[in-house]
Parts: sequence; C-alpha cells; structure tokens
Amino acid sequence: MGGYTRPMLTLGIETSCDETGVALYDSQRGLLGQALHSQVAMHERYGGVVPELASRDHIRRIVPLTRQVLQEADCTLAQVDAIAYTEGPGLAGALLVGAAVGTALGYALGKPTIGVHHLEGHLLSPLLSADPPAFPFVALLVSGGHTQLLKVEAVGVYTLLGESVDDAAGEAFDKSAKLLGLGYPGGPAIARLAEQGHSGRFGLPRPKLHSGDLDFSFSGLKTAVATRIARGLPDDQARADLACEVQAAIVEVLVAKSMAAVQACGLRTLVIAGGVSANRHLRAQLDAHALRQGIRVHCPEPALCTDNGAMIAFAGALRLQAEAALAQPVPITAPRAVTGFDIRPRWPLSSLPRPGENRASN
Ligand code: KG4
Ligand code: ZN
Repeated sequence: MGGYTRPMLTLGIETSCDETGVALYDSQRGLLGQALHSQVAMHERYGGVVPELASRDHIRRIVPLTRQVLQEADCTLAQVDAIAYTEGPGLAGALLVGAAVGTALGYALGKPTIGVHHLEGHLLSPLLSADPPAFPFVALLVSGGHTQLLKVEAVGVYTLLGESVDDAAGEAFDKSAKLLGLGYPGGPAIARLAEQGHSGRFGLPRPKLHSGDLDFSFSGLKTAVATRIARGLPDDQARADLACEVQAAIVEVLVAKSMAAVQACGLRTLVIAGGVSANRHLRAQLDAHALRQGIRVHCPEPALCTDNGAMIAFAGALRLQAEAALAQPVPITAPRAVTGFDIRPRWPLSSLPRPGENRASN
C-alpha cells in the first residue's frame, strides 16, 4: 500500500474465537511473518467451540507465537511501531487475552495500540494480496457468525447493503454438518464430502433467492436438512449427495445476491472475505457468473480467508496511517496513560467510525 509518510511495523494479534494468530506487517515491505495456532483439534470432540477452553489455550499460545513471528521476521520488539489486537466481536474471554497482551506490550514499549474490528480485518484482507482491488468495491463477508454485503469506499467507509436475517452462511454449513454427523468446523467437512456427491437429488430450498432485496436467510435450510435426515438416508452416497446439495443451495444464494449487489451499486468489482470465502465451489461459481457479467472477483488466498493475525495487523496499520494523515489525529491509546482496555464481544460493523471520528462507547 502506498501513500504512507514513513514505514510502520505493526504487530497484529487475533484471539476472537478458536485461532491464535500473530503477524508482523510492514507498511512498505508487506507481511514479514505470521503464525497461527488452530484449536480445531481441541474443540472437535465437543462438536463446537468451548469458550473457556479457547481462552485458556490463547493464553498458552500467544507469547510463543509472538516470539516465533519476531524470530522468523528477524525483528525485535523494539522495532515494532504499533500493536493491533482484535477488540471484537467474538468470545469475551478469548478477546480478553489478545487485548490484555496487546495493551501490555504497547504500554511496555511505549507504542500506540489499536483495537481492531474483526470483520474490518476480514473486509480489508483482500488488499493484502499481490493484486489488490481498488476502492470502491462490493464485499461479500461470509464468516461463522456474519453474512453481509457491503459497499466499501475507503477504510472505514462501509455501507451495509444486505445481511442475513437469521443464521449466517457459515452457521448453515456448521449446523448442517452437525446434523450429518460430520466434524467441526462444518464448512470444510461439507465441502470435502460434497466432492463425492451430486446436487439436485434432494432439492433443498434456496431461501430468499427471489426476494428482490439483498438480505439472506439460512435457518430454513438447516430445518430442511434435519427433516430430510429424519426421513432416513439410505447410504453414504445419499449423505454425500445431501452435503453437495447443502453447499449448492448456500452458494447459489450467495452468488446471486452478490452479483445483484455489484449491479445495484453500478460497480465492477466484488471482493470476498471471511471463512466461507475459502469454499472452492463458491469461488468457482462466483468466477463463472462474474465473467459473464463483466465483474472482477478478488478472492484472498485461502489462508487469509479464515481467522489470522495478518488481517488484524493490516487493518490496524491502515487505520493508524489514516488517522495520522488527518490534521488532528484522534489519540488511539495513549501509551503512557493506560488504565485499562476495552473488548466488544458484540460490535456491529455499522457502528464502526470512520478514521478520525470518535468511537461510541460500549
Ligand atoms: O471467518 P472465520 O474463520 O471465523 C469467524 O470469524 O467466524 O469463519 C469460520 C466459518 C465457519 O462457519 C466454517 O465452517 C466456515 O467459515 N468455513 C468454510 C470453509 N472453511 C471455513 N465454509 C465453507 N467452505 C469452506 N472451505
Ligand atoms: Zn473471522
């Protein structure tokens, strides 16, 4: 990213859910290093994330991962100019770990710290790619808890075009996977099983496909899957066919609404972000439809789609740079006057201020 007054090295810390992510982003040289520890194996036996176990594991991992990233990037803590951590939304106990470590590091080093909105991290992560999209663009944000279409005009300038009125797409994958007896997280498990199946056999609904707006609804899909399973699936092929149909139904709605959103905004660029955007069928279908409609689709590399520290370092750096560029920058967290820190387990993206605007308190 160009336009910076001076190079800035940002340490990013992500601990909002079940992945501990740490990364170092240099505003001139790009990503210098990143490390990730996934807790999937730990939570798998419970069929979902156990919040208390998640917090404890973040505590165990965060310091060794930070050391590892610094070592791999051949940097010392003294060289770090700023610290960014995920402030929300997410699991309270998990967020507290990253926020406490980030704030303490910033205080000890006398460097600014910034709390980053997790979804803004996802939203801006495609800009980390070698061929970044230019503003403005439409973003399809599909994570475990959120399904949103947004018009993105600049850092912090987001207009919500539509969102799920109930379950998120990731949730629909996860709940359907659970019903099918597949592991957690459900998205990759459904995608894997779907490779052996054929869609069309079970005819699942495409909720809100023709609703004429840009909102989504996925809770009916889970009910339809439950009903179908209750009637009995004769064999493994039937399970694979149902997994394939679940994926096809979710993807068809996501693709149709995304294309409609880009057209409605009179734009030509679509960016996808969040864990579900790692889905290969979604990426292939978006590419095919976009090609026909003259739309360019930007997909972050799969490792950047799911939770990671790089997107937090990057979003934090962009915000700090944007605020520093303003005539009267808003103080982030005065490094010598730390009395505490905030976490925001529930934090709608729509309440996120533009750079330079004061944040509303909780
Ligand atoms: O963005 P993310 O890593 O965490 C949140 O911020 O929620 O998204 C996690 C979600 C889960 O619902 C997971 O099942 C889904 O992303 N997911 C996928 C795939 N990889 C992760 N869904 C479909 N296909 C995938 N390949
Ligand atoms: Zn996420």
